[in-house]
Amino acid sequence: MVAAMSASAPSPLARPRVVSGVQPSGVLHLGNFFGAIQQHLALQESFPGEALYFIADYHALTTVHEAAALREHTREVAIAYLALGLDPAKALLFRQSDVPEVLELAWMLSCVSGMGLLERGHSYKDKVAQGLRPSVGLFYYPVLMAADILLYSASVVPVGRDQLQHIEFAQDMATHFNQAFAGGAAALTRPEPRLSQAPIVPGLDGRKMSKSYGNTIPIWESGKKLRKLTGQIVTDSTPLGEPLPSEKCNVYALLQLCCEAVELEQVKAWYQTGRREGQPFGYGHAKVLLAERLERLFAPARARREALLADPGAVEAVLMRSAEQARVIARATIRRCREVCGLP
Ligand code: ADP
Ligand code: TRP
Repeated sequence: MVAAMSASAPSPLARPRVVSGVQPSGVLHLGNFFGAIQQHLALQESFPGEALYFIADYHALTTVHEAAALREHTREVAIAYLALGLDPAKALLFRQSDVPEVLELAWMLSCVSGMGLLERGHSYKDKVAQGLRPSVGLFYYPVLMAADILLYSASVVPVGRDQLQHIEFAQDMATHFNQAFAGGAAALTRPEPRLSQAPIVPGLDGRKMSKSYGNTIPIWESGKKLRKLTGQIVTDSTPLGEPLPSEKCNVYALLQLCCEAVELEQVKAWYQTGRREGQPFGYGHAKVLLAERLERLFAPARARREALLADPGAVEAVLMRSAEQARVIARATIRRCREVCGLP
């Protein structure tokens, strides 16, 4: 669908677009998959318009200061999306930095954004509280993110709850820009957030699964290592054979995400009775079951990942082709914005 677009395409506002980005800042985990990636992949099928996903490598420079690591993480994210089911015929997948026009729009937006707006940013305050150096880039992060969204005239931006304020900033910046430069006309389109349906995915210690807490289960973990990880999930001390409280159980919360409905009913019954087929069923069994289900869920994608790892040229080709198509949209927006600003 996006392939049909050309430099002479009609107004970029003509088609609805879903746009989202993911930072290449570390190994992808189950929180990333169930909280973000799964929804992105579903939207490539169900969204009545174009889907654009990018790897936010400019954003990652706020925290990743090692070239080899940034390249490696970026490649990992690209391969993960493709292995997990992104279809380049249905959605674009590109590196943010392959469309440098985004930096120009970010500058224009920064000139209509009050300091007060950015000073309210939760994400900046949280990251500084976690010990990150308060760089100008970290503070400016939401402006670049607004530019990511407005550059492609996104109508819908699927994100986790933690990103909601950034979408509100993008809405405000679009309005300020249109009022300041375009006499209120819609030079930039106001985006709407779409919150992921997935609950917060718990990590090994029961807190939100996150790189920053070191409590993650990586998507690609398998075999003994995976069983070791699921074995570390914190549970209460209900003795083996007693009924288990599924609603408070971190293992069950993860089983809910990776079991089919019918199977989940069975598992629920095992929890309620503390027995499976006449034998005692305890947390240890639930953890082994979880490892098996995760292994099964990601097996096809793991095989595709292996193939993609062996074919870096194919991955690069998808990224470059997508970036070219994204740039067509980006250039049209920049042309419009330059004109209303009075830039040549
Ligand atoms: P991390 O917390 O590991 O640094 P990111 O902030 O890079 O993860 O996550 C990228 C996106 O993945 C988030 O915006 C959110 O949508 C989703 N995500 C990450 N962790 C979780 C989680 N534990 N539960 C639900 N969604 C999550
Ligand atoms: N800030 C987002 C995150 O950490 C990643 C991101 C960058 C993004 N630009 C975006 C998400 C634009 C949606 C739209 O998860």
